[in-house]
Amino acid sequence: MDLLSIDSLSDSQIATILDRAQHFFADNRAGRSRKALAGRILFNLFYENSTRTLMSFATAAHRLGASVVTLPVEQSSVKKGETLADTARTLNAMRPDVLVIRNRENGSAEAVAAIMDAPVINAGDGTNEHPTQALLDAATLQQRLGSLDGVKVAICGDIRHSRVARSNAKLLPRLGAEVQLAGPPELMPNDAPTTTVDDAIAGADVVMMLRVQRERLDSDFGDAPGEYLELYGLTAKRLASAAPEVMVMHPGPMNRGVEIDGTIADEPQRSLITLQVEMSVATRMACLEFVTGIKN
Ligand code: NCD
Repeated sequence: MDLLSIDSLSDSQIATILDRAQHFFADNRAGRSRKALAGRILFNLFYENSTRTLMSFATAAHRLGASVVTLPVEQSSVKKGETLADTARTLNAMRPDVLVIRNRENGSAEAVAAIMDAPVINAGDGTNEHPTQALLDAATLQQRLGSLDGVKVAICGDIRHSRVARSNAKLLPRLGAEVQLAGPPELMPNDAPTTTVDDAIAGADVVMMLRVQRERLDSDFGDAPGEYLELYGLTAKRLASAAPEVMVMHPGPMNRGVEIDGTIADEPQRSLITLQVEMSVATRMACLEFVTGIKN
């Protein structure tokens, strides 16, 4: 079974993955390891930069006993002009048990999945989806809150280019949350309702900030030092208008002093940013269990 988008998952599959994520989270904290995927091989195929996603998939695989092989894309035959489809056919002939892919093109994970015999996990395709990030964000909130029912979530920043926002906007409402997307008008999708960052944050229970994805922009938008933070970023003043127990999230990588005041990011109580990273390993263990069908 592939894991390519939120829409491809049923409610019960989502519930199972999130439930297993909490299970693996407790296991990891207790130092218990599992061996269900011993002898299996995961391929990591990342055409875009990554710290958290790449490392947490590798760590998740190792915690389940699998081995990980990572294609160093910069030194691969991609640089000699090989197409993604030919790379996929080549990797398929090596018979991996799971392939995790991140690529710049929307729909690339689906295209690769159509070629591979092994299950494929989408670790981000262009500006389209990043389903395992949304799953780990939901698992992080459940860890803190139990249920997401009626929880008001403001997702703020570069919505136009954010696959994280797109996957979360699909997943979180299915779990009962109310999601509002907000950002600079230049960085909002054309079809999105226009809410200001101030309005979205006011009264929110959760504020999720997103980076300006400069690599996908042709302009120098948001370059002037301090300006973005002042106009659209998470400052102490904006946070003060949120719910009293507000929780702050960020998928990373953060640009401190741009979309978020660094002091807020470091707050031990209200910031869930480190918890998101810890939960990413547990959630990806649950995703590997789900796609392989090999249960611990
Ligand atoms: C995000 C991504 O790559 O989509 N990072 C992540 O996976 N945690 C967000 C980003 O690059 O800004």
